[in-house]
Amino acid sequence: MSSKIIQDVSLASQYLTNGDLVAFPTETVYGLGADASNQAAIQKVFTAKGRPQTHPLIVHIASQQQLSDWAINIPASAYVLANAFWPGPLTMLLTKHPQVSPLVTGGQDTIALRAPNHSLTLNLLREFGSGIVGPSANIYGHISPTTAEHVAADLGDAVAAILDGGPCSVGIESTIVHLDGDAVRIMRQGNITVDQLSTALGFPVSINKSENHEIKVSGSHLAHYAPHTPLHILSIEQINSLINKFTTQNKTLAIISFEQAPKDLPTDMYWLQVNADPDQFAHDLYAMLRDLDQKQFAAILIEQPPQTMEWGAINDRLTRASAKYQI
Ligand code: TXA
Ligand code: MG
Repeated sequence: MSSKIIQDVSLASQYLTNGDLVAFPTETVYGLGADASNQAAIQKVFTAKGRPQTHPLIVHIASQQQLSDWAINIPASAYVLANAFWPGPLTMLLTKHPQVSPLVTGGQDTIALRAPNHSLTLNLLREFGSGIVGPSANIYGHISPTTAEHVAADLGDAVAAILDGGPCSVGIESTIVHLDGDAVRIMRQGNITVDQLSTALGFPVSINKSENHEIKVSGSHLAHYAPHTPLHILSIEQINSLINKFTTQNKTLAIISFEQAPKDLPTDMYWLQVNADPDQFAHDLYAMLRDLDQKQFAAILIEQPPQTMEWGAINDRLTRASAKYQI
């Protein structure tokens, strides 16, 4: 284990104050943290990830009390959502405060704000006393990290420390909503569903599925969250016929399915049966993909999950993770 993996919140806070990068745990995925008021530190985040500067960063705050430090013209619905879901896996896009660096917002006039639900990171945010920018702590376009070891594998050399809070409980990135007065739109699906948001607000929330919306959400780029091994989302029938095809080519496959392995599965094929439980699936997904990615399979085949709201965020990530691969 790397000596950079720490659990000392005060030390992590000192690094941030010094302008260094600290990866931190959240309930969704690990973030690559820097002082959100320090331009040179923010610059290091883009360099470390290899991320284009036009892609803005979420600012993590300790609680809704800090909303007005970063945003202006905050609609009442923002407080309704913060009361219902913070600390938690919900990011709100609001009008940025004039003092916020354009480096944080990619030059846009919206700012993304979230209070994450992880005790170590809430302690860090309280001790640090200000906002911490935090994109997912992975190389740009790669799978988001859900353990400290995942962060070390992608970005170990670039960070001063990785605050280890164990495996992330949710496992996929936060739901992002855009608040425009009282109109609320989901820009990125996550663990908090459209129904939960609509219920909390008392009016309907829409899901933005367009790739060409005017508000840039980089996680919405089609090829994202991808393993290096070709990944395909398929029906069980398609999976079975590909097993036959790859067997004749002497190539091995990893298969993630809700069903049991077929009795006649060739021995060099790797079949992973998973529960049809969206929370469990989200929790395990990125670790599973990172693990399989290291095992040199010709391809990873995943059985298409149900097309229901509960699976919405997972289907979204799987679509993006497989987008650059043709079968
Ligand atoms: O769960 C999460 O949201 C994790 C943890 C670490 O908090 N963070 C995360 O950050 O997923 P990142 O940078 O990988 O994804 C944040 C998304 C990006 O697609 C970014 O473009 C969008 O939020 N975003 C950030 N600031 C924005 C802004 N001002 N306007 C529009 N989109 C913004
Ligand atoms: Mg990301």
